[in-house]
Amino acid sequence: MAEINRQIHLVSRPTGEASADNFRLVEQPLGTPGEGQVLVRHHFLSLDPYMRGRMNDAKSYAQPQELDKVMQGGTVGVVVASKHPDYKPGDNVVGFGGWQEYSIVDAGMPGSLRKVDTSRVPLSAYLGAVGMPGVTAWYGLMKICEPKAGQTIVVSAASGAVGSAVGQLAKTRGCRAVGIAGGTDKCEYVTRELGFDACIDYKAHKDPKSLYQALKEATPDGVDGNFENVGGPILDAVLARMNTFGRIALCGMISGYDGQPIPLQQPQLILVSRLRIEGFIVGEHPEVRSEAMKELGMLVGTGKLKYRETIASGIESAPEAFLGLLKGRNFGKQLVKLV
Ligand SMILES: NC(=O)c1ccc[n+]([C@@H]2O[C@H](COP(=O)([O-])OP(=O)(O)OC[C@H]3O[C@@H](n4cnc5c(N)ncnc54)[C@H](OP(=O)(O)O)[C@@H]3O)[C@@H](O)[C@H]2O)c1
Repeated sequence: MAEINRQIHLVSRPTGEASADNFRLVEQPLGTPGEGQVLVRHHFLSLDPYMRGRMNDAKSYAQPQELDKVMQGGTVGVVVASKHPDYKPGDNVVGFGGWQEYSIVDAGMPGSLRKVDTSRVPLSAYLGAVGMPGVTAWYGLMKICEPKAGQTIVVSAASGAVGSAVGQLAKTRGCRAVGIAGGTDKCEYVTRELGFDACIDYKAHKDPKSLYQALKEATPDGVDGNFENVGGPILDAVLARMNTFGRIALCGMISGYDGQPIPLQQPQLILVSRLRIEGFIVGEHPEVRSEAMKELGMLVGTGKLKYRETIASGIESAPEAFLGLLKGRNFGKQLVKLV
């Protein structure tokens, strides 16, 4: 076992776009677990858009990431040493170990560590389709969009970790699933591989009228549920296609994560169409976790829920891979492989 634990720290806060200078690779001696603790070797770490928000020292639903500390984030790995009776070396675990090669975890703390079964679901999928992004898709779709057979569901960032699951889950409920994604490759994947009914390449429709027209053609019966991941002109176009009493799950607004304003062009449509718009944070809904995980695990295990991963290699690659994720350079779930 290595004597050194390599970590990525946040060392400064971005003004505008985040950059590689905001991060630093740090080497620390590897500790040993005390009573009740477990040493985990991380195999994959998860890179997620919400981390951009935590880089700012601003009021939000989550505490900002502390400077000169390991970047926080989800991890999957294998127990290498344990002083907790419920864990033994070789156990596959999901945790929140952060951007580092190893973590020492107080395994008795609720939510700190969970053993997972990799016989049908690969370890990395517990950070994606059968992990936080999958549960996010499940919650926003089932509890806010409330899909019914024959209805139309639209999702933006459709080829990504969350969006890809939203459309496929909507199909299992008998809905028409329409994605919005950047580029022909992503749109072809969304329709041909994932089975969405249509996908709009927003990069080919830079003019709002053209985007609206493309969406109109893809949603001949209007939109009943919108799973919003992006905001800005994409949300404007979908708002204008919403049916009366439609539902919008406001999951993310990645087009504004660098702090630029993304005002709604026609907020009056919320009233005119009597829309329900609800923002949500998946971590605040532990009540759906087991039901969602059961369905997602079954669908992935039987090959009915497909997903794609973009995998960067080595802890030193995490900052660039993260910056790429914010620019859409990922194709599916963005991970860093550490072993
Ligand atoms: N509320 C919650 O609890 C919760 C939990 C998890 C995730 N989220 C949110 O869900 C969304 C998707 O997350 P994810 O993990 O699945 O990421 P992802 O979709 O795998 O990756 C992010 C994607 O966003 C798209 N994007 C980036 N900038 C954009 C822009 N300016 N305009 C349009 N699209 C842009 C890119 O796809 P294209 O190439 O298609 O543009 C990029 O690949 C994010 O907004 C995230 O913050 C929320």
